[in-house]
Amino acid sequence: METIKISASSEYSVHIGNGLLKEMGEYLSAFAGMRSICIVSDDNVYPLYGSRVEQDLQNAGFRVFKFVFEHGEKSKNLETYSKLQEFLCNMKLTRSDAIVALGGGVVGDLAGFAAATYQRGIRYIQIPTTLLAAVDSSVGGKTAVDLSSGKNQVGAFYQPSLVLCDYSVFDTLPDEEYKCGCAEVIKYAVLGSRDFFDELNRTPVKEQYEHVISTCVKMKRDYVQEDEFDTGSRMFLNLGHTVGHAVEARSGFSILHGQAVAIGMASVARIACSKGFCSEKTRSEIIGILGKYGLATTLPYPVAELAGSILTDKKVFGNTLRLIVPEEIGKCRIERVDVSKIPEWIG
Ligand code: NAD
Ligand code: GLY
Repeated sequence: METIKISASSEYSVHIGNGLLKEMGEYLSAFAGMRSICIVSDDNVYPLYGSRVEQDLQNAGFRVFKFVFEHGEKSKNLETYSKLQEFLCNMKLTRSDAIVALGGGVVGDLAGFAAATYQRGIRYIQIPTTLLAAVDSSVGGKTAVDLSSGKNQVGAFYQPSLVLCDYSVFDTLPDEEYKCGCAEVIKYAVLGSRDFFDELNRTPVKEQYEHVISTCVKMKRDYVQEDEFDTGSRMFLNLGHTVGHAVEARSGFSILHGQAVAIGMASVARIACSKGFCSEKTRSEIIGILGKYGLATTLPYPVAELAGSILTDKKVFGNTLRLIVPEEIGKCRIERVDVSKIPEWIG
């Protein structure tokens, strides 16, 4: 097992190990004053792992409730958020109690935002059950729900109190979801480490979960500690996300987040190469590894259909979009793009 400490506006640990779910009750008993816990999960994850977690928490003496919603991005909205808030209130959760987010990034983002705002903030614990959530969304405190006009438009920066990542739960993850997680893992390698990139090329992610998750979480820790509120270096984590979010939204969320990020990374690699920011070799290495992990790399929609939704991207400040562009494997830069030129930067 590995433990990584995060020091942001609050401090917390990320524990990564095989079989950690069994120790939930023990970990949560360490929080003073916590009596009631609301498990928030979706209708795929709860039937697989929910009763195990519920039982363990009850055995540790907690009063446990569950709020289970329909899986998928389409549930990450104000309607589900509002139902969850009413539920917390009806169950009389108090400010010393907690939410346990048991699921992927959709559950974590929604539950985290509910925790950030219920009675002006209660504790929440992230139990990521997808690879994507383990390496990215469960750490760093970005919580949000979507509006019909764009992803993550309503949210808060609010750090979890604990992250427990038991990667044995990835055994039940559908292959498409595993690939989505691999897209985010590849993102970290392109951003910050040639060695890690080579390791991912040599050995599949699923054969080295603990090493991969801890490498990504440590990289994310460094960005979050330096720029918790995403006004500077944390924006690097957005590599592939500008076009990715536009693709995801244009598809009505039938293209999954990780698949869309892969398409976005390939797109920006092509543009970076054509504009002379990176070499042909770097472009083909990025597109090559995405293909090796079974991820799509070509734009599924015409540029004109994607450019509009990029205007609602949170990396647009005034008339300028901050786009993350690769220079070489392990090194990227932030390029300031005038919003009128966005179509030229989608390739
Ligand atoms: P998700 O939560 O929708 O999970 C993907 C699917 O896998 C769902 O159908 C879910 O029910 C199922 N599932 C989850 N765990 C499973 C398991 N162990 N076994 C079987 N099925 C399982 O999606 P995701 O890819 O985890 O997360 C994507 C979301 O995360 C997006 O909304 C994205 O915007 C957000 N995100 C947030 C951050 C952040 O920093 N907050 C970072 C990256 C992504
Ligand atoms: N997933 C991007 C971030 O946490 O900043």
